[in-house]
Amino acid sequence: MEQLTQRRTMAAPLWLQLLLCIVAVACVLQARAQPDSKGFITIDCGLSEEMGYVDNATKLSYAPDAGFIDADTGTNHIISPEYVIPALAKVWYSLRSFPTGVRNCYTLRSLMPGLKYMIRGRFKYGNYDGLDRLPVFDLHIGTNYWHTVNITDSKDAVFVEAIVVVPEDFMQVCLVDTGGGTPFISGLDLRPLKRTLYPQVTPAQGLVLFARLNFGPTNETFYVRYPDDPHDRIWRPWGDKVMWTEISMASGVQNIANEDLFEAPTAVLKTAIKPRNASGNLEFTWYPVPTPKDPSPGYIAILHFAELEVLPNNTVRQLNITVNSKPLYLYTSDIAPDRIYDIALYNSGAFIRHSNYTISINATANWTLPPIINAAEIFSLIPTTNLGTDSLDVSAIMAIKAKYQVKKNWMGDPCVPKTMAWDRLTCSYPPGSPPRITSVNLSSSGLNGDISPSFANLKTVQYLDLSNNNLTGSIPDALSQLPSRTFLDVSGNQLNGSIPSGLLKRIRDDSLDLRYGNNPNLCTNGNSCQLPAKRNNKLAIYIAVPTVLAVIVSVILLLICLLKRKKQGSMNNSITPRNETMTTNAPGNNVCTDSSLQRLENRRFTYKELEKITNNFQRVLGRGGFGYVYDGFLEDGNQVAVKLRSHSSHQGVKEFLAEAQILTRIHHKNLVSMIGYCKDGEYMALVYEYMSEGTLQEHIDVGSKCNTSRLSWTERLRIALESAQGLEYLHKGCNPPLIHRDVKATNILLNARLEARIADFGLSRAFDDSNDTHVSTDTLVGTPGYVDPEYQAMMQPTTKSDVYSFGVVLLELVTGKAAILREPVPMSIIQWVRERLAQGNIEDVVDSEMLGDYDVNSVWKVADIALNCTSQMSTHRPTMTDVVMQLQECIELEKAHGGGDIASHRFYSGSSSENPNLRYDAYTTNQSTNAIQNNTTFEMEHNLKRVPTMATGPSAR
Ligand SMILES: *[C@@H]1O[C@H](CO)[C@@H](O)[C@H](O)[C@H]1NC(C)=O
Ligand SMILES: *[C@@H]1O[C@H](CO)[C@@H](O)[C@H](O)[C@H]1NC(C)=O
Ligand SMILES: *[C@@H]1O[C@H](CO)[C@@H](O)[C@H](O)[C@H]1NC(C)=O
Ligand SMILES: *[C@@H]1O[C@H](CO)[C@@H](O)[C@H](O)[C@H]1NC(C)=O
Repeated sequence: MEQLTQRRTMAAPLWLQLLLCIVAVACVLQARAQPDSKGFITIDCGLSEEMGYVDNATKLSYAPDAGFIDADTGTNHIISPEYVIPALAKVWYSLRSFPTGVRNCYTLRSLMPGLKYMIRGRFKYGNYDGLDRLPVFDLHIGTNYWHTVNITDSKDAVFVEAIVVVPEDFMQVCLVDTGGGTPFISGLDLRPLKRTLYPQVTPAQGLVLFARLNFGPTNETFYVRYPDDPHDRIWRPWGDKVMWTEISMASGVQNIANEDLFEAPTAVLKTAIKPRNASGNLEFTWYPVPTPKDPSPGYIAILHFAELEVLPNNTVRQLNITVNSKPLYLYTSDIAPDRIYDIALYNSGAFIRHSNYTISINATANWTLPPIINAAEIFSLIPTTNLGTDSLDVSAIMAIKAKYQVKKNWMGDPCVPKTMAWDRLTCSYPPGSPPRITSVNLSSSGLNGDISPSFANLKTVQYLDLSNNNLTGSIPDALSQLPSRTFLDVSGNQLNGSIPSGLLKRIRDDSLDLRYGNNPNLCTNGNSCQLPAKRNNKLAIYIAVPTVLAVIVSVILLLICLLKRKKQGSMNNSITPRNETMTTNAPGNNVCTDSSLQRLENRRFTYKELEKITNNFQRVLGRGGFGYVYDGFLEDGNQVAVKLRSHSSHQGVKEFLAEAQILTRIHHKNLVSMIGYCKDGEYMALVYEYMSEGTLQEHIDVGSKCNTSRLSWTERLRIALESAQGLEYLHKGCNPPLIHRDVKATNILLNARLEARIADFGLSRAFDDSNDTHVSTDTLVGTPGYVDPEYQAMMQPTTKSDVYSFGVVLLELVTGKAAILREPVPMSIIQWVRERLAQGNIEDVVDSEMLGDYDVNSVWKVADIALNCTSQMSTHRPTMTDVVMQLQECIELEKAHGGGDIASHRFYSGSSSENPNLRYDAYTTNQSTNAIQNNTTFEMEHNLKRVPTMATGPSAR
């Protein structure tokens, strides 16, 4: 007993510390583990420093890897000093090794689903462990085999690269121990590619780099990469003074805009080779490297040709290209290089499998000029067809893993490959569709905290064993959403409270088998609900002191939060309710945090007064379901808007009262404020502050009003954030939360300073989440194009229904289009944007009225938020609090880029550098990144040696 109480004394402060820690760490890591402004992620693995650094040669920022991998995974090392040479870039010094676990994974987040990405791992063994044992291990991209890393020399610096379509908004890169030694990794790079590039890459097939050669330079250290290649491919110099002559041109070779499928950079194209013997040809041979999955892999070759010489009169250079004596191209194998443009020849399907491949470039018989070649890329193919576990199951089990800090072997995909499926899970593998999780056994796993509602999101689980842990709190009602005939065991924990009615019903229905024994504080029929009250003994005090501390800290935190909220609120738009007019029809008893310090009297107008204010209802500002809204001036000259209920209105007294009731209770700078109301006989009206710039709709929809100036991206972002803050207040600042139910661009009003306020609360409903997660109503309300499909199906609005509608508003802000597109066929804006973004092109969807004046990344991010908000399933949507946070990040992003920095456009425009010579000089003075000199072989993954006529790798003849 003494020991137990001692432990408890420690428990609370430790718990608090931990919580604060987790919150802090999560925020820091979140901030770091993001693509940079170009969409690049560049990681220095095993870096012990907390901060990243900027590489001198490329100016790329390297991040430490901690934010991309589970805590306590792997160990950090540095290579042995004898392998450190001055020219070696910093990224090669440190590495992370994985002595435990079969599979260890990095997770790269915030990606655009459906987009092509280039992923590159770096590996330099450098005898970091002093064992001089060269490891062999596998790499996987998600659930698909990528490559076998086979280190054959301690000093080798190996790159492994692939180009793949990423199906989800994240990508996992896994190192798999195949018994050949401890896997390790030195660096990891991710680069987004435009959808038009590398047409051989599809959702079903990726390319793995075999060689990327820049013909011409005889200087071995002359590597071309970012910024000379905007896509940061690394081009290896490839020359041979004996066999070949280098030819070059200062500048001038270009890509054909929008047609070039490979965008080889000018820095690479401006050099080429031709045979020294004028009647000779150019030939390359390579030998396939078998993989465990594919004993004779197929290859794709992409060859670049551009004329660099001034040709004598009446001569033409014409080339004939063959692979193993067959034409490279199906239809023609003869080309004449162009003087200005790069011509890329490639095979779109893999070569027929051979024991070796020889590419031969000959001058055609009619012409005497020797052949040339500027650059080449050779890839092997990998299938990317392995289906990962159902994404809903993945997000649920990931949340569970994070909450309970489950270690075990919980890395990578939960069910795939079968041999590495997570311990304690059972999966089903239905043919042709993603695997599903069918059982989770976490008994005796030391789980702490309450039961995660995420368990209920495992929609095919049949067996859920949480017995014999230290689970506390009550059993969440969400578990009543578990699928039919589930076995659920929560016995042997510290659960309290009673069993929720939903679960009891399921038990009575015999559709759930619940075991809950051995929970001393759980109220069940056999156990009275008297908690062991005030026992005035040592134990109680030991428990009480930390609890009180915890409560005090919580109260302080809460106060800080409230104060912050108050600061956000405006100082003078508040009113005090006059309860006599507010009948009980309206959703009552809502308590919202008052965001203003000062309370104003809520004025009651007579109809006569309204006539005077509006000059006999002369000027109509707008019209809603409720009736007309009129322009007016108070006696003090303040302009107001008067919403008068029309007698023929289909929105009745009830909605009028609802809105009046709500507006007297809620006060926030981003909600339209009510100055007064009128209930004079049959006349009913609400008097609001005047919003001179009208509705958001008028500012973004081309058709609606011609003379309004279009909003800039910065203005749109601010309007988005402010509206989100208004909604967040309804959801979070009010208890029970208020659901607006009709969020749309016409219900967001703008004042003279373009500050946004949410308006029209006639349809709002209070929503009591204390024992029910939704409000049941009998009629569907809302506006077509904005209505949450789940609400439509279930007739139960939730706060997530507002999130959905808000997502539609965000899409309108990005695209300048209406919620439902009419042309060419009626289509929801969500579908329209999803289709285009899946192709990876944001510029297709952005409102052209913004004239390109925006930071591409902040637009991507907003589009991403919007698509998350409009997820079909409400559980996949963020809360308004998340949305506010993310929009704030976007504003930071936009600020950081001065509202449209040219540099950030460069990647997406895909153009090569304009003045290569200038940059070249600056660049070549510090070639540290890739320069490996003298005794160090700079090696790619396949023993591709520089010297001609090696056993493997392209060789010159
Ligand atoms: C970058 O250059 C500066 C000054 O030239 C030098 O002090 C620094 O160590 C270099 N950093 C790296 C990572 O090479
Ligand atoms: C690794 O490479 C070496 C040398 O090329 C070769 O002998 C060995 O079989 C390779 N190991 C594996 C597992 O591929
Ligand atoms: C080539 O042709 C151009 C004009 O077409 C002419 O000016 C030039 O002298 C010719 N050069 C030779 C070497 O014939
Ligand atoms: C190779 O290029 C680097 C810079 O790119 C330069 O420092 C070095 O002197 C060159 N070496 C030779 C042999 O030209």
